[in-house]
Amino acid sequence: MKIKLPNRDSAGVVIAFYVSKLHSNTYNNDEIDFEFLGNREGKPYSLQTNVFVNGGGNREQRVHLWFDPTAEFHNYKIMWNEHQIVFYVDNIPIRVFKNNENIGVGYPKQPMQLLATIWDGDGWATDGGLTKTNWSFAPFKAYFQDFKIGGCPIINSNTNNCNSQGYWWNQRNYWRLSSSQRKLYDEYRVNYKTYDYCDDMIRYPTPPLECVS
Ligand SMILES: *[C@@H]1O[C@H](CO)[C@@H](O)[C@H](O)[C@H]1NC(C)=O
Repeated sequence: MKIKLPNRDSAGVVIAFYVSKLHSNTYNNDEIDFEFLGNREGKPYSLQTNVFVNGGGNREQRVHLWFDPTAEFHNYKIMWNEHQIVFYVDNIPIRVFKNNENIGVGYPKQPMQLLATIWDGDGWATDGGLTKTNWSFAPFKAYFQDFKIGGCPIINSNTNNCNSQGYWWNQRNYWRLSSSQRKLYDEYRVNYKTYDYCDDMIRYPTPPLECVS
C-alpha cells in the first residue's frame, strides 16, 4: 500500500494499515499491524508494528522513518507466510516475526481481511497519551493508493492449499531474509528503532519466548 500521512500537527492521530481476522471478534483476533502515530508539528511520526495472536498483542515495536512520510507516498508492505511475517518500508525490512510455534509461541493463522483506517488515538498514541489532538488542525487526511494484494483465496473455509509452493511467497527464499535483506534490516534497526517490547525489562522482566529464540 502506498500511504501519505496527514501533515502539520497530527498528535493523537493514528493511521493504520493492517490485516485482521475475517469477521473479526476482537477477543480472539489474529492481526498484523502498521500504525502511524501522529505527533506535534516538527516532531516525527512513530511507526509502530504489532502482531496479535488469538487476541493477544503486546508485541509493539516502533521506528522513526528516515523520510518525511507526510511529503510523499511511500510503500508499506506485509509479507506473511507460514515461516515468517516481514514488515517492509520502501522494501526495507524493518521487522521480522518468525514462526516460533515449535517453542510454543502463537503464530497468526486465521483467514484475514485487510483494512486501512484513520482514527482518534489521543488516549495513548502520542507520548503515551499525554500529548492530545489539537482539533483546530482537523480535518486530518491520510491518502492511500496503488494497493496490491497476493493471497490465498478462502473458499468454504478451506485453507488446505494455502501453503502451496505455487504461491511465490511460500517459496524457500521467503522463509527467511536473504543475506542482503538481513544487512539492510540490521542497519535500519540500529539507526531507526526507538522501542522494542523485547528490550522492555520493566514490562517484561522475563523476555517473551520469541524474543530469546
Ligand atoms: C491548537 O493550535 C492552534 C493553532 O496553532 C493554537 O493557537 C492553539 O493554542 C492550539 N491549542 C492547544 C490546546 O494547544
